[in-house]
Amino acid sequence: MSNNGLEDVVAAETSLSEVDGQAGRLIIRGQSLDHLVGHATYEDVAALLLDDLLDRPVNPHEIKAQLAQARVGVFAHVEALDETLLRLPPFDAMRALVARLADGEDFDTALSLLAAPAVFLPAVLRLQKGQSPLPPNPGLSQSGDILAMLHGTMPSREQIAALDAYLVTISDHGLNASTFASRVVASTKAGLVSSVLAAISALKGPLHGGAPGPVLDMLDAIGSQKNARPWLEAALERGDRLMGFGHRIYRVRDPRADALKSAIAPLIAAGQVDRDRISLAEAVETAALTILKERKPARPLDVNVEFYTALLLDALKFPRQAFTGIFAIGRTIGWIAHAREQAQQGRLIRPRSVYVGPMPEAA
Ligand code: ACO
Repeated sequence: MSNNGLEDVVAAETSLSEVDGQAGRLIIRGQSLDHLVGHATYEDVAALLLDDLLDRPVNPHEIKAQLAQARVGVFAHVEALDETLLRLPPFDAMRALVARLADGEDFDTALSLLAAPAVFLPAVLRLQKGQSPLPPNPGLSQSGDILAMLHGTMPSREQIAALDAYLVTISDHGLNASTFASRVVASTKAGLVSSVLAAISALKGPLHGGAPGPVLDMLDAIGSQKNARPWLEAALERGDRLMGFGHRIYRVRDPRADALKSAIAPLIAAGQVDRDRISLAEAVETAALTILKERKPARPLDVNVEFYTALLLDALKFPRQAFTGIFAIGRTIGWIAHAREQAQQGRLIRPRSVYVGPMPEAA
């Protein structure tokens, strides 16, 4: 019998991240997520993940300026956003622009790839609203610039910190579906752009990175705290999955959910979040955990990263159809690091399948 879903199959050795599903712990290159979020910037974590994996050393003091220059460099591709591309969902239009980058394995390709979704997604979103795309500001960090390029105003300190915390939190996460896709393509030596394009495509589905938009849809549909329990029960009765709950590896709470919940707190304190939305989300989380325990006692199901992602990105005024694209912006660093690690390890990934179809008739 084949292992549908490859559960518990070990398909790589990595020094990039470890996901401990029993303890609810995430380690990124030797550092616990709790020590990174709020203490390290996105650029610090990018330098940490890329260290020793590229043809040139990655200097943590220089990467902020180098990444800013890369954002300026890739902005030229925004011109290619024609009517056909702008009719696509923002995620697909962004992916189409990433496909324009020249493939390679080197430092410059890695930096262009890190910059590209961060520049392309705000440009797509603005053009789809009939606004002109805004060029990057090389004086800003990646998080600050994403917000500035999208909204056209200088973001607050709390907003930049919240987005930075999000990008750090989701930077890498073991051998998830999109990272595996990146490693499979890297093992063929196709190049970093090809690897990242495969990963972007894998991220898109609602069982992976496509969940946070539906989390907000669910909160909208529930509407009030008193409607939480009946609504969730009816959803499970229909056989629906509750978006933002459950995980292949975690059997306890996803540590990234709490990192993001903490990252939202300063926005709440600064009055930059709709408090009613947060109260509703907390009521839905409590009701969902109770109901899931009652209905699925055999399978420990808890909140995952996508639940608080939805609240954080909503608070930063990203439209919900852009949420998966923001996830891609943050996870690109993990995809690149894994692709390089795989390419260095050398062997082509080529598993086997079991043929269960008909055999040719004997002559
Ligand atoms: N709501 C209700 N039931 C669930 C949920 C959920 N969110 N997640 C799992 N289950 C149930 C399944 O129905 C199944 O029950 P059964 O045995 O009675 O049929 C059982 O738990 C096991 O489900 P699997 O599909 O085997 O679990 P898997 O490990 O493949 O699922 C997944 C992981 C895809 C994330 C799942 O929990 C899910 O669909 N969650 C909702 C979507 C979501 O939030 N995705 C984001 C994940 S985080 C990320 O990728 C960044």
